[in-house]
Amino acid sequence: MTFRHRHLLGIEPLHPEEITTILDLAEKYVDLNRQPMKHARVLEGLTQINMFFEASTRTQASFEIAGKRLGADVMNMAMQASSIKKGETLIDTALTLNAMHPDLIVMRHPNSGAVNLLAEKVNAAVLNAGDGKHEHPTQALLDALTIRREKGRLHRLTVAICGDIAHSRVARSNLILLGKMENRVRLVGPPTLMPSKIEDFGVEVFDDMRAGLEGADVVMMLRLQKERMDGGFIPSEREYYHRFGLDAEKLSFAKDDAIVMHPGPMNRGVEIDGVIADDINRSVIQEQVEMGVAVRMAAMDLLARNLRDVARRDGVMV
Ligand code: NCD
Repeated sequence: MTFRHRHLLGIEPLHPEEITTILDLAEKYVDLNRQPMKHARVLEGLTQINMFFEASTRTQASFEIAGKRLGADVMNMAMQASSIKKGETLIDTALTLNAMHPDLIVMRHPNSGAVNLLAEKVNAAVLNAGDGKHEHPTQALLDALTIRREKGRLHRLTVAICGDIAHSRVARSNLILLGKMENRVRLVGPPTLMPSKIEDFGVEVFDDMRAGLEGADVVMMLRLQKERMDGGFIPSEREYYHRFGLDAEKLSFAKDDAIVMHPGPMNRGVEIDGVIADDINRSVIQEQVEMGVAVRMAAMDLLARNLRDVARRDGVMV
């Protein structure tokens, strides 16, 4: 099956076979990225604009490197210095940029749904780099690629996603993807950080780490999203670490060969013990970052193919 979407706004609209298509293509880019010469020309002549309205290290660098390796002209908008600060609305900014004919727009925004709004207003293919508490599709895809490579498959695994589930777009995109690929998803965290009615997603919920990690193949830790909290969700960081921080003792409840994941940025001593994070036999955190570039290359490659098909159909391009 081919990948037929105009935008990558979330995991929700993707068919399992489309997820596999992205991951298979990403494997090819993993190999390319390990060569001294990393250039492919699939985005040559295309303009990619990165708009990050929230702080980002990994995701922004990764999208920029991905675009450059594929030959796109990449522009990073400095959103702190843009006219947004002068009161321009997102839609007016979008229309202004649209008039410059970008082909790919990558956006991160604090409001859930902002990327969908943008996608309605521009001609470019829009990629969601994280919108509020909603979705972060390329993160879930890079996590899936990491799991598939480590475990040799992406189905019938027990995955424990732990920590601040309620405020996490990473958790949301991951549980949708892992569910679509027929894995057992467990959510582990304090009830205050668990969204209501989350069981409707077909997941199991735990408020005890040892029970939640029992027999897990994958342990995925999350940062406390303090910037999205408007009150006291946890008693104290010390207390939180004691109950929910991943240390060797709690990890011993998971399978012996369980892998430890974290999307970053990581708060050592809050949700994870630094020794576990650095343990190359358990932690795949650096591999996740590597897979991030490859997955973003694959996603932009597939979207650009569809852009070309549309342009050819409209007679704009031969
Ligand atoms: C995540 C995000 O921004 O949603 N980071 C990332 O993209 N790697 C997770 C987080 O901020 O905690």
